[in-house]
Amino acid sequence: MAQTPHPEADWWRQAVVYQIYPRSFADSDGDGIGNIAGVTAKVPYLKALGVDAVWLSPFYPSALADGGYDVDDYRDVDPKLGTLADFDEMSAKLHEAGIRLIVDIVPNHSSDRHVWFQEALAAAPGSPARDRYIFRNGLGPNGDQPPSDWVSHFGGSAWTRVPDGQWYLHLFAPEQPDFDWSNPEVRDDFRKTLRFWSDRGVDGFRVDVAHGLAKDLAEPLRSMPVIPELDIQVDGTNPLFDRDDVHTIFEEWREVFNEYSPPRAAVAEAWVPTTRRALYARPTELGQAFNFDLLREDWDAEGFRKSITENLAESAASGASSTWVLSNHDVIRHPSRYALPTGLGREGLDEWLLSDGLDPLPDHAAGLRRATASTLLLLALPGSMYLYQGEELGLREVPDIPRDQLADPIWLRTGHQLKGRDGCRVPLPWTVARDAAGGSSFGFGSGGAHLPQPDWFGQFSVEAEEVDPDSVLALYRTALRLRRELQTTETLEFETSVPTDVLSFRRPGGWLVITNFGTTPVPLPSGEVLVASGPLADGQLPGETTAWIRE
Ligand code: NOJ
Repeated sequence: MAQTPHPEADWWRQAVVYQIYPRSFADSDGDGIGNIAGVTAKVPYLKALGVDAVWLSPFYPSALADGGYDVDDYRDVDPKLGTLADFDEMSAKLHEAGIRLIVDIVPNHSSDRHVWFQEALAAAPGSPARDRYIFRNGLGPNGDQPPSDWVSHFGGSAWTRVPDGQWYLHLFAPEQPDFDWSNPEVRDDFRKTLRFWSDRGVDGFRVDVAHGLAKDLAEPLRSMPVIPELDIQVDGTNPLFDRDDVHTIFEEWREVFNEYSPPRAAVAEAWVPTTRRALYARPTELGQAFNFDLLREDWDAEGFRKSITENLAESAASGASSTWVLSNHDVIRHPSRYALPTGLGREGLDEWLLSDGLDPLPDHAAGLRRATASTLLLLALPGSMYLYQGEELGLREVPDIPRDQLADPIWLRTGHQLKGRDGCRVPLPWTVARDAAGGSSFGFGSGGAHLPQPDWFGQFSVEAEEVDPDSVLALYRTALRLRRELQTTETLEFETSVPTDVLSFRRPGGWLVITNFGTTPVPLPSGEVLVASGPLADGQLPGETTAWIRE
């Protein structure tokens, strides 16, 4: 007989999830690096913000070759960040506050310090220890050419040679060797890790590089000299990404998730086209997949309308719920993206970073208006909203970190051609004054900050915004509170008779949402304005503003 589902089995479908990049959130012990106890201390802040869940980016032991996505041990806490006991305390405090906990799981690669990789290096070519990773002989008479033309996401070849002459594969940094997922030992060990954290009360998992685990390693290795972009056709036959056989892994994971009550939730990080994304999100697999489409869209009504429509349709067809993302630890913060001229594309944004944020000059006021209008729009959609720490303060990118302080491997590995992602990872400002509470880091901690914070950070601090009823923080708090009341179903109906620059839809229960992407005010529909992303006047909705209305 079928079991009755747990009453909270679907908690994730409409959740607001707040991403914490732990090293940059709050530092309780003054070493300049944020830690687990720092998160625990800020649980009241998270509760007041009104989020449903926290997604904690990697907190495992790591040499930080890639911000913690190089994991030494999947079943422990980095001593720099605390202990398992600290983790349990944080988890308990979050749960007491009604906030669930999602942890990041990094299955494509470990770090080169992982005990298995150390064993592999010590073992002979062809040994079982090497078979957990992807070791191959090189090409050419002396084997001194890499085994294939595959490239690393961070620049350069995806192969590194070891002293005995073999090469190992790393789709990211050399310190991140890729696992061989056709090896049952690897599959078993990850299921053990999923149970380890699930037994400790973790509610869900964010799955790093979910589209990369299965690889076609048949000899001769097929040529693939580029990292496929989202818009390049990926049809399940690429040797490295989004292969059809990746899905059996997640079916096995689903069996583990369903051992728990409520079942553990999961969300795939899979940079694949919209139509392929739904496969990872099937209820028999992870349940959700990040929708990164809007990270690549300019501030434009038509682009938003298309993306929203497609994503709602795709997720409905697979039984998943949609996800919405405007910022995370890998991309330029959205108030800065929207402050730049449209049409720059990824290359233009990279060049802007290289110019230290000076060329082109951002229009910060417009950037913030568009950022808050788009956040308020997305918060009104069915599905989960993933927020990135600091966006609730309207925080911008820090594009001018001194070059000698950049920590992202992208900077080094591209020979200083790309600056990388440090500008969105600068430790959060909690106080107006830089030297408040005995520290010099805007209240982040008493021992400075591991990435330098600019002088303008204080005006975006929690302390400054908590006392300002018109702050971005106040807007997020109000919107999240209202959303809890208003979000009762997963349906939506677009308004069709609106000007081109306007996007408007109705949700059941008399909830009308309207965004003016243009710059000319439009008449405000009648009803009670529940919240707006900017000031309203004379019955008009100004440009670059969203309002929620009760009809
Ligand atoms: C995606 C993560 O979000 C990113 O930060 C990391 O560098 C890569 N995966 C490799 O783990």
